[in-house]
Amino acid sequence: MTELTTLIHDASEIVVGPGDDDTLERYEDAALAVVDGRVAAVGPTDEIVAEHPPENASHAIDADGRSVIPGFVDSHTHGLFAGDRSDEFAAKLRGKEYQEILAEGGGILRTVRAVREASDEQLLSNLLGHLDTMLAHGTTTVEIKSGYGLDTETELRMLDVIRRADDAHPIDVVPTFMGAHAVPEGSDAEAYTERVLDDQLPAVADQGVAEFCDVFCEEDVFSVAQSRRVLEAGVEHGLTPKVHAEEFVRLGGAQLAADLDAASADHLLHANADDRAALADAGVTPVLLPGTAFSLGADYADARAFLDEGGSVAVATDFNPNCHSQSMGFAIALACVGMEMTPAEALLAGTHGGARALDRAGEADGADGADGVGTLREGMAADVTIVDAPSHVHVPYNFGVNTVETVLKRGEPVSGMEGNHE
Ligand code: NIG
Ligand code: FE
Repeated sequence: MTELTTLIHDASEIVVGPGDDDTLERYEDAALAVVDGRVAAVGPTDEIVAEHPPENASHAIDADGRSVIPGFVDSHTHGLFAGDRSDEFAAKLRGKEYQEILAEGGGILRTVRAVREASDEQLLSNLLGHLDTMLAHGTTTVEIKSGYGLDTETELRMLDVIRRADDAHPIDVVPTFMGAHAVPEGSDAEAYTERVLDDQLPAVADQGVAEFCDVFCEEDVFSVAQSRRVLEAGVEHGLTPKVHAEEFVRLGGAQLAADLDAASADHLLHANADDRAALADAGVTPVLLPGTAFSLGADYADARAFLDEGGSVAVATDFNPNCHSQSMGFAIALACVGMEMTPAEALLAGTHGGARALDRAGEADGADGADGVGTLREGMAADVTIVDAPSHVHVPYNFGVNTVETVLKRGEPVSGMEGNHE
């Protein structure tokens, strides 16, 4: 069997990941060698090239003048949907509230109607299109939630489409079951929670089609008690908890996430100091979604206060019909300008932080069996994004523009210009 190798050389910089003191570790004039899909060596070009000559590589990429970073890990999306809610964007700009739209049967409930009516092939084609956009913008791992079915049949259909997209597309797709995303029309939260517990969760677990279980713990959606029941039952079925917490009001979702050792607590626009401390103590990754605040015209989460707690923070897109951006670069720009994160902090949050929120930040072949992603250390999956600019700072600095040139998945070029390869 021939060894598959890729060599990226002469990059103006290679961002490895968080350094010892959580600053950004990087090499200038750097190279990276890939063997069998994993990072075999990273460091100064002259040292790496001496060990891994370009002429021996299956692919040699001259990254002269460009920045090489870990592929983005987008740890929170609702990227599988049907229909068009662009009119709600316009209505919100005229002052209509997100929850008002939902209470009138719009918002999530409108997408639920569209998803129930769509065929599997339409859903798959929609999702693959969005994955193509994400890949072109440098994302190599993405989490996708169900939650636009709100009945057993459609939730399972969504999770099956997510699995098919994972098989068909270079991006790794991580499936999350989110039956408790909204209360379907004609039901109430208590009765619907029973349906999630009695019908949906056992069916999802039986098919083995989800890794995480998420709930929308929010006023007028699911209470803390209902959210706890769903997440605890999920744990019994082998699903790791995640929580939509403190998005519109402070209800207690962050404390719940801490109690249950969730992988992440997400949104957190109204989290307070107690919530931040509880999450940090429990090792729960806060996932901050600045695109959501941007599209809602809401105040951003207090990223600086989360960073002061010392733990790792993730930044993700929250791509969904209410927050219609697949671009991690844009989320990172908003993290800088809206949440006062430094470009280095925001980049780490969109790579290593995302991997932590998805339990994939360990070494390759970690305890959970999934390859480690989000850093370019030796042994990690060689998921690499090459930015057409001399440093990672240009990702947020050149906001509104896709700065990504080439993307490699497990060392294989999967997006970008052919002319780039020697
Ligand atoms: O994370 N907050 C709840 N869920 C999504 C919105 C989904 C939708 O509006 O379709 C979110 O922002
Ligand atoms: Fe969400």
